[in-house]
Amino acid sequence: MLPQISSFSEYQDAYLRSISQPEMFWEEIAQAFEWRKPWEQTLNWNFTEPKIEWFAGGKLNITENCIDRHLANRGNQTAIIWEPNNPNDEVRKITYSQLSEQVNKFSNVLQAKGVAKGDRVCIYMPMVPEAAIAMLACARIGAIHSVVFAGFSSTSLSDRINDAACKVLITADGMLRGEKKIDLKQIADDAIKISPSIETCIVFDHKNFPIQMQNGRDFDWKELMSTSSAIHEATEMDSEDPLFILYTSGSTGKPKGVLHTTAGYMIYTAYTFKNVFQYQEQEVFCCTADIGWVTGHSYIVYGPLLNGATTLMFEGIPSYPDPGRFWSLIEKHRINIFYTAPTAIRALEVFGTEPFEGKDLSSLRVLGSVGEPINEEAWHWYHENVGKGNCPIVDTWWQTETGGILISPLANITPLKPAFATLPLPGVQLAILDEKGNELHGNSIEGNLCIKFPWPGMARSLYNDHERFKSAYFSTYANYYFTGDGCKKDEDGYIRITGRVDDVINVSGHRIGTGEVEDAINEHGYIIESAVVGFPHDIKGQGIWAFVICDREHHSYEELCNEAKAHVGKVIGAFARPDRIQVVKALPKTRSGKIMRRILRKIAEGDTSNLGDTSTLIDPSVVDLIKIGAEEIR
Ligand code: WTA
Repeated sequence: MLPQISSFSEYQDAYLRSISQPEMFWEEIAQAFEWRKPWEQTLNWNFTEPKIEWFAGGKLNITENCIDRHLANRGNQTAIIWEPNNPNDEVRKITYSQLSEQVNKFSNVLQAKGVAKGDRVCIYMPMVPEAAIAMLACARIGAIHSVVFAGFSSTSLSDRINDAACKVLITADGMLRGEKKIDLKQIADDAIKISPSIETCIVFDHKNFPIQMQNGRDFDWKELMSTSSAIHEATEMDSEDPLFILYTSGSTGKPKGVLHTTAGYMIYTAYTFKNVFQYQEQEVFCCTADIGWVTGHSYIVYGPLLNGATTLMFEGIPSYPDPGRFWSLIEKHRINIFYTAPTAIRALEVFGTEPFEGKDLSSLRVLGSVGEPINEEAWHWYHENVGKGNCPIVDTWWQTETGGILISPLANITPLKPAFATLPLPGVQLAILDEKGNELHGNSIEGNLCIKFPWPGMARSLYNDHERFKSAYFSTYANYYFTGDGCKKDEDGYIRITGRVDDVINVSGHRIGTGEVEDAINEHGYIIESAVVGFPHDIKGQGIWAFVICDREHHSYEELCNEAKAHVGKVIGAFARPDRIQVVKALPKTRSGKIMRRILRKIAEGDTSNLGDTSTLIDPSVVDLIKIGAEEIR
């Protein structure tokens, strides 16, 4: 049985053990899984190459742990509950036996299409159980899945397909999000035109939208499944064989294909799911993230299924058909654990308490928050109105690269502090460093958040680019993994995440690199240069503010800005559209040609009282002009 901590002193003991004898600590946890062959070496690591191996030499298949081993005892238990976009449409419930059958069938489908161990498969799907089935089938045959969020444009989709040279693309005809119709197959077709590695496209008919199928390349999911065998022998994987790639944004350059491997990820997501949420048998767990982000991977699919839990997948959005949708969802499915993002909470806060009227939320036991810092006001609102003052909030800090939660309270165990992610989980050795790279010790400190010892769920590399893995995460400070986040540790040793310290912004919990937005804006024929920064936004957490230089007189700046916004939507996806575009004569540049983003950030934040030293700028007077312009559009 996977250990479950049951008191604060047990947490403290586990933490100490995990630091003094990390290998022994994780070996004990690893025993709770099914291995085809035991591992030979628990941990082998250094943060210089960097090289991280957990449970090397072990043989297993993660889907035997997610599905097969549950069949004897919980074959008839619901594994996945699916709630459709439209609450009047039919709910689907899939038992562990049915999930096994579907995953086996789809594994056979993929193999029949020539997909073999190590091949990459791209999944561009709505929030339907078939997305999870596709992921699990990849894992079962040893193919590496690369799920791309279905809000990305065809350009972004094809960039990701090309980077990993995916052989197969799995998609659907389309989907509805609220009332918005999205033609996924059309977007997929546009992407495939510029993605020569795709040999096969499998299309799940979800909404019966009219679509074009290309003979010999496109196949209907249901048709393929109807003749596929439900018996499938899982492929034996090594602990360190890749499980998936998930693209995420960094400070610079194109998105990074974060690579996770099999055993460590499995053990870490299972352990953190059970302990952070304190999951109890038979409970219904609901995470509102999209499967296209890491939260969906780890806490809709892998973490819950590894624990034999019932996981709810919600296709819709919190505001449709009305702003009480989440609360209806909780009542309808008697949800016990509800895990969402601060941006959703802030958006719903605006509607007050009316949407709660007449709704029974008494099934709730634990609330969770993820994706961005939760401000105190939202924390209290969530605690009082959703949890009725009785449910702990686990504010879980982690990243695509960390695979699972690293800093969080354990529900009903760790004493809470609003807006604090609180304490590191067992096995997580944090370090807070100052600008110069000195590790700060003791309490009441503030600095850059790093981790100095490996944990099983950490990323192992960036797909096909280990050098970049090293430079992005292990080069800022020698021998530390650098998270890109800043944090404060208070007088009790509690951690509060203050946000990114690099050029990554977090818009409604979506991680966006400012460089990606700039590249898209610069494609506009009239714009020669741009600089993008984040600014505080009441609902989204951060909004996107773009300063642009226009090289000729455009007949209307307003139109130019709208075009640039629309273009970003087209190139990246609607979620990355800038909120504000400000046309400027010049950007604040140093003599070496570097844009001083610090100044632009301050201006966008509306905090211009102290802009710091501007003497290194080529022309300090541009700052005043930008300040005046910013006031006009604020
Ligand atoms: C931010 C999402 C404060 C942080 C799981 C991190 C948070 C980035 C929290 C990773 C939290 C995530 N409090 N900030 N509880 N959780 N973040 O890769 O800046 O999409 O670096 O992973 O989100 O975003 P990603």
